[in-house]
Amino acid sequence: MGQGVGFGKVILFNEHFVVYGLPAIASAIGSKTIAHVERQSGSGIKLQDDRPETPGYKAEKFAQQKESLDRMLMLMQIDTNRNHFKITLAGDLIAASGVGASAASCAAIARAFSDELGLLFTDERINEIAYEGEKGYHGTPSGIDNTAATYGGLIWYKREANSQHMERMKLKRPVEIVMGNTGITADTKSVVAGVKERREQEPEKYARIFDEAAQLVKDAQKQLEVFDLKRVGAIMNKNHELLQQIGVSCKELDVLVDLARDNGAFGAKMTGTGRGGYMLALTPGLDLQERVAAEIEKKGFQALRTTIGI
Ligand code: MEV
Repeated sequence: MGQGVGFGKVILFNEHFVVYGLPAIASAIGSKTIAHVERQSGSGIKLQDDRPETPGYKAEKFAQQKESLDRMLMLMQIDTNRNHFKITLAGDLIAASGVGASAASCAAIARAFSDELGLLFTDERINEIAYEGEKGYHGTPSGIDNTAATYGGLIWYKREANSQHMERMKLKRPVEIVMGNTGITADTKSVVAGVKERREQEPEKYARIFDEAAQLVKDAQKQLEVFDLKRVGAIMNKNHELLQQIGVSCKELDVLVDLARDNGAFGAKMTGTGRGGYMLALTPGLDLQERVAAEIEKKGFQALRTTIGI
């Protein structure tokens, strides 16, 4: 049986802006998706999805998951008319919006096929296949999610017309974060399309916001490198404001952001697609992490205690 892993991720800076070629920064988190692939007699594909989930996520993503899988099989040139494969998805990454669940599953599936069939795919090839799979979920993905899912670690990422650039970044030490789950499943395709539409309607306003986002991510990179976490947190707060201005936050995310800041988080912002999914709070140290996570749970939301820069 072949096995493969894909890392869950958190976008620290510039989701959405990254779709338009601005740099963004993301980190793998401790949770992963693990895929198993087993060749059996007969033909076709059976997918068994045992990942933990935000209620309703899997059902809502079912059609997109199928399209994603078809795209990856095509690119890997795997003939399911003459072979039967059983794919099982598991691991501790919650299938939810905002943690790179789709990308992690794509990278894990590509790796598991490579392992089962002895295809010896390089990381670069896995990333290409996962990117193809992401198109089933996103339409026009920037590529940041599959890159983080494939390579792990802390990355600076920029998409250009026909190429994608990734640089590895290093943190002095891993830093505790809390991710608060709104419990709402977002549709990345339509949230990304909404930004495009509003940007076309209000070009001047969006040009100003995008300029700020371009400057902000440069500062963020610098402050992460010198490990000034107070400043990193302040830049996260500013990034959240810009994301609110382009219309991708929502009431629940804003409530979680305020709650985290009121309880001492160095900074907080929505992360990923927005309009649901997860909020990210920078909470260095186990005590602060616990305080913020416990307050989120008291309000009835799920809190994920994890780290960036592993
Ligand atoms: C989704 O995790 C991140 C977005 O920026 C979309 C993308 O980069 O493809 C919203």
